[in-house]
Amino acid sequence: MKNILVTGGAGFIGSNFINYLVDKHKDWNIINFDKLTYAGNLENLKPSENKENYCFIKGDITNSDLLEFVFNKYEIKYVINFAAESHVDRSILGAEIFVRTNVLGTLNLLEIAKRSNVEKFLQISTDEVYGSLGTEGKFSETTSLAPNSPYSSSKASADMLALSYEHTFGLPVVVTRCSNNYGPLQFPEKLIPLMIINAINNKKLPVYGDGMNVRDWIYVLDHNKAIEKVFENGKIGEVYNIGADQEMPNIEIVKLILKKLGKSENLIEYVKDRPGHDRRYAIDSTKIQTELNWTPEQKFEDAIYYTIDWYLNNKQWWERIISGEYQNYYETMYSNR
Ligand code: NAD
Ligand code: DAU
Repeated sequence: MKNILVTGGAGFIGSNFINYLVDKHKDWNIINFDKLTYAGNLENLKPSENKENYCFIKGDITNSDLLEFVFNKYEIKYVINFAAESHVDRSILGAEIFVRTNVLGTLNLLEIAKRSNVEKFLQISTDEVYGSLGTEGKFSETTSLAPNSPYSSSKASADMLALSYEHTFGLPVVVTRCSNNYGPLQFPEKLIPLMIINAINNKKLPVYGDGMNVRDWIYVLDHNKAIEKVFENGKIGEVYNIGADQEMPNIEIVKLILKKLGKSENLIEYVKDRPGHDRRYAIDSTKIQTELNWTPEQKFEDAIYYTIDWYLNNKQWWERIISGEYQNYYETMYSNR
């Protein structure tokens, strides 16, 4: 058995990852370690919760004593670190928790992994560490880091710390940097689920600035299949970019969602831009495609429809979220726009 600590496994990407792999790799013993912040939701893990090779531990990656206990008890030899504060807008409202979790939490994990002679430490990072592009070009693994938001700065710091632990101490670290994910179970503060849910509820769809900022979209399962490849075959000390070559301006996505749901474009409301808003992201994923034989399978024009259908068919999931903590957040973020 491979004893794998998956941190942040109750969030969007981590829960999709566990649900996808728990049956596929019966020899992977998955220990999901998650603080259950506003973004963590154990309902996401219903398909995995009774599996023999899965267990959940509520905990914070900044808690050394608890982590030390977990590493010893489960004889952890592999770490996949999804745990993070992940929302750019929240990092603009308050950066401290981003530094605490994303930087200090990752450092804490690296230290304990070093002491426990971990055999692979996979740091899940983001294309936002590269900053913003003009109209041409793509991010490659050799693009200089130039993070612009407190969120992306905290993620870049974590990447650097992880790679420094490989260089200095020989900890077997690999880093992935992926573009914008979409799919089931995404917390409805992010563009796609927020717009789908607002459209279903006939609420305004707040588009930042001129709506022409471009993101490069990847279906969450394609990201998770790439992580699986990197976990199994990625070279120690390397960075792998992950993306599906599907660039879209935000406003086009918003219009597509409205069209699919049969709603009027009058619901669109252009609002004050996000401070420091990165204009365009685009990922060159040649390295992972050629070296690890990974290719994205889902086309945006198909998978956005499965995604919209998932939110239509899983109202209970998101109604519970927006009736609680998310509502307070929603008030803070959007009430004066
Ligand atoms: P998410 O916000 O949906 O989930 C984050 C999870 O981490 C939650 O379950 C939360 O409870 C947990 N968590 C937060 N702080 C913690 C702490 N201190 N200790 C333990 N657990 C903690 O995020 P996501 O979208 O699933 O992103 C997962 C990872 O992938 C993040 O590292 C993010 O930076 C990265 N990433 C996300 C995207 C994207 O488009 N969503 C793209 C590239 C990379
Ligand atoms: O690129 C990878 C990153 O993608 C991940 O590292 C982050 O964790 C993830 O949150 C995401 O960051 P973005 O800032 O790109 O995602 P978000 O969904 O917040 O915004 C996508 C775009 O939509 C961005 O240009 C801002 C815009 N937007 C967003 C919201 C929430 C709006 O116009 N209106 C909105 O209400």
